[in-house]
Amino acid sequence: MGRRSYQPPRSSILSSRRDARARMPRPAPVTVRVPAKVNLHLGVGPGRADGYHDLASVFQAVSLYDEVTATAADELSIEVAGATGVPVDDSNLAAKAARALASAAGVEPAVHLRLTKGIPVAGGMAGGSADAAAALVACDALWGTGVDRSTLAALAAVLGSDVPFALQGGNALGTGRGDLLSPILGRGQYHWVFALADGGLSTAAVYAELDRQRAEGAARPPAHPPDGVLGALRAGDPVALGRVLANDLQPAAVRLRPQLRRVIGAGQELGALGTVVSGSGPTVAFLVRSAAVSISFASALAGLDVCRSIRRAHGPVSGARVLRPDGR
Ligand code: C5P
Repeated sequence: MGRRSYQPPRSSILSSRRDARARMPRPAPVTVRVPAKVNLHLGVGPGRADGYHDLASVFQAVSLYDEVTATAADELSIEVAGATGVPVDDSNLAAKAARALASAAGVEPAVHLRLTKGIPVAGGMAGGSADAAAALVACDALWGTGVDRSTLAALAAVLGSDVPFALQGGNALGTGRGDLLSPILGRGQYHWVFALADGGLSTAAVYAELDRQRAEGAARPPAHPPDGVLGALRAGDPVALGRVLANDLQPAAVRLRPQLRRVIGAGQELGALGTVVSGSGPTVAFLVRSAAVSISFASALAGLDVCRSIRRAHGPVSGARVLRPDGR
C-alpha cells in the first residue's frame, strides 16, 4: 500500500501558521507621518462614463499631518485618535490600503493601525487619502515587502484619486482623476491659514452639485489651464500665486454650505493674498505673506467668529515618510 502523507484540516493549518507567526520575533512598530494637501488650482472637466471627472489639479502638500503607526498583530484592526466620525472597520481607506498591499505582496494583512488625526476629517484636505498612503508605506516597512515605488503608486491610485499625491508630496500637477502626477519645479515656502468648518462635505456630493449647476448653465465652464499657478510657483512669488488660486468646485461647495460665503469674504476683509476653498471643502485656505503674518491673520480671523477652528501651516512639504524612532 502506498504511503499517503497526513493532510491536516485547513483550520489547523491556519492555526499552526498563526502559532508559527506568534513564535517569530515581532518587528518593531513603524510610524509614518503624512501631510494634508491644498489644491492651488482645481480645474474640473465634464463628468466621465466611469463617474469621475478629468482634472487639471495643482496640489501642494502642507504641514498639517496625520500619523499612522503599524504594529504587528494577529489580524487587521484600526484605532483612531484625535478625531471622531472616522470608521474603524474595513471601510476605512487605511484598512483597504493594508489589505491591497498584503494581497499584492502575498502576505497576511496582520497589522494593527493606529491613526492619529491632525488633518481635518472630510475637510477637502485629503485626510482619508493621506491615511491610505501612510498605511501603504508603514505596512511595507513593517512587513518588509520591498515592493517598488511604482507598485505602491499603482496601489495608491486604485485606493483613491488623491492617494498618489499623499505618497509623493511637494508640489505636483495631477491629471486624469488627479492620480497621474508630474512633479512641479517650484521655489519658495508658502504660508497658509486654514478655516475649518463644523461637519464635513462629501466629495461625491460636491462633484454632483457641480454637474447639476453646469447642467442648469449656472456654473462657470472648466477653469483655464493652470499656467498662472505654475508660473507663480516657478517664480516663488506668493503675491502672484494669491491672485490665481482657482477651484471649480468652490461654487458647488458654497451652494451646499452657504455659510462659506462669510468665511471666503473674511479673506478679503483681512487682506489675504488669496482665498480658495480647499478641494471639495468645506475648509477654506487663506494664503498670506509670511509665517509672522499667518499668526496675526489667524487671530484676526478668530475674532470674526466665522469658523469652528483655525490652523496655520506651510508648504510644500514632503509626502508620506517613515519617522525615525526619535520621532524625526
Ligand atoms: O477617488 P475618490 O474616492 O477620492 O473620489 C471620491 C468621489 O469624488 C468619487 O466617487 C467621485 O464621485 C468624485 N470624484 C470625481 N472626479 C475625480 C475625483 C473624484 O468625480 N477626478
